[in-house]
Amino acid sequence: MLDAFNREINYLRISVTDRCNLRCTYCMPAEGITLMSHNEVLTLEQIAEVAKVGAENFGISKIRLTGGEPLVRKGIVQLVQLLKAIEPIDEVSMTTNGVFLKKFAAELKEAGLNRVNISLDTLSPEKFKVTTRGGNIQDVFDGIQAAKQEGLTPVKINVVKMESSNADELAQLKAFCEKENLKIQFIRQMDLESGSFSQVEGGKGGNCSICNRLRLTADGHLKPCLFSNKSYSTKELGAEGAFQAALYNKPEKGKTSNNHSFYNIGG
Ligand code: 5AD
Ligand code: SF4
Repeated sequence: MLDAFNREINYLRISVTDRCNLRCTYCMPAEGITLMSHNEVLTLEQIAEVAKVGAENFGISKIRLTGGEPLVRKGIVQLVQLLKAIEPIDEVSMTTNGVFLKKFAAELKEAGLNRVNISLDTLSPEKFKVTTRGGNIQDVFDGIQAAKQEGLTPVKINVVKMESSNADELAQLKAFCEKENLKIQFIRQMDLESGSFSQVEGGKGGNCSICNRLRLTADGHLKPCLFSNKSYSTKELGAEGAFQAALYNKPEKGKTSNNHSFYNIGG
């Protein structure tokens, strides 16, 4: 459906949890985070119901599952199944850190997941351990292979460019992706509060004039823009009311936001 600035909105990013098995330095604040309480988080059925309303009444046809880390959410495979059963939805994809993909790739494929984006900012086990505050890069490599093997393709690799990442490393990542038949997207490290955001290289994010997306937080708020505080509760307004409000109030351009973070909005 068209928003107030004539943009065709057809893409819903769903954050299924604010929890994550990693603690990436650019995503989680060092002092730790306050997590949503379990009773605030939408059930699988509630998520599917919001998606159904979006698909049947507001033209949503593509869904991306994000987190936190979507694979730590119980019932994630079942959720993929529920979403794929909604007729107007033609694509369900996922953005994951890849650590648990080896375990889940086959089940996800069977449930109908179309493809995955996997976050990987370095090829160095040591650097990976530092950036993610403890992760094991081999898990991600195994996850990438499993995704390819199961046909969750095209597999895309999301690279967050940090101040510390040098040109060498970015070139190595590019070469790795070419060799492994992976698409690569570079995302400049963003800061929601300062409003410093930019276009995703190799992807569609960050270009306000063609932005086609809305976001659903794990606790059921529809957000029209990553860089705006606007937020509409599906619990208070109903899914229909929240979609109407989010579409009508989607800003022409993002500015800043201080009421959410990457770990609860999923990028
Ligand atoms: N800036 C840019 N991208 C970020 N992500 C998480 N935090 C940030 C940030 N501050 C990315 C992750 C992942 C996606 C879900 O969001 O690396 O690829
Ligand atoms: Fe977890 Fe992704 Fe945030 Fe890293 S960037 S802590 S993997 S949600």
